[in-house]
Amino acid sequence: MTELAEVEKQELLYRGKAKEMYTTNYPDILWVHYLDQVTALNGKRKVQMADKGKTNCAISTQLFTDLRNQGIENHFIKQIGPTDQLVQRVKIIPLETVIRNSASGSFVKRYQTEYLQEFAQPVIEFFYKNDALDDPFLNDDDALALELATREQISKIRQIALQVNQHLIKIFEKINVQLVDFKLEFGITNTGDVILADELSPDNCRLVDMQTKQSLDKDIFRQGLGDMVPVYEEILQRLLHSEEA
Ligand SMILES: Nc1ncnc2c1ncn2[C@@H]1O[C@H](COP(=O)(O)OP(=O)(O)OP(=O)(O)O)[C@@H](O)[C@H]1O
Ligand SMILES: [Mg+2]
Repeated sequence: MTELAEVEKQELLYRGKAKEMYTTNYPDILWVHYLDQVTALNGKRKVQMADKGKTNCAISTQLFTDLRNQGIENHFIKQIGPTDQLVQRVKIIPLETVIRNSASGSFVKRYQTEYLQEFAQPVIEFFYKNDALDDPFLNDDDALALELATREQISKIRQIALQVNQHLIKIFEKINVQLVDFKLEFGITNTGDVILADELSPDNCRLVDMQTKQSLDKDIFRQGLGDMVPVYEEILQRLLHSEEA
């Protein structure tokens, strides 16, 4: 795709908590810039963290590429520079899709289970992506009533989410990491297809070292345990070396 060499960054479309999205000279391509910033509690707590953007950008590039190689279509086009990516522009479906393999976070809080209690099969949960409402939990029928997605789109999301889960479990197993849970976002392309979008990084996953049970993700920040960038960097290095092996 030689013409992609001429992609130019244009206007800032959206400044989120983790990334900035820019339009480009191609209507179907967005320019993503990963920020050196981390937030918790829906943005109420915000801290600058050097090198976080480049680490998350590299991890996300790696995982989107791995998934594409396994036949899972996604918005990633290519990485351009240390903190930036080109992606296919989609209409984001306002459902945050959480896939859980064992109990953590809001699941433990809601059902008072043991932390890391294993599930016989993965659990898919939806949250309404709506900052003003604090991203509330909802079910498929709520999503249909609110017209956030069609029944076919929800079923496609569930199907892709389970495939992504199977591949990510294997990818992380190889680097001695347990995939506890993660959040995905999906979008609709200009041809009407549902594809995986947004990012795949330790900001959106719960990762636990298989031996030490240490958290290797944003829980370090949520729990006030200090600088998480060295740990994210460790995940990146393990992923890169796993590729070489
Ligand atoms: N391919 C894409 N096309 C259009 N929008 C996208 C695409 N991928 C991700 N986005 C959107 O871009 C934004 C990315 O920014 P960021 O992750 O910083 O958001 P955020 O602070 O988590 O906020 P939000 O609550 O809106 O997700 C998100 O709103 C995400 O849904
Ligand atoms: Mg986000």
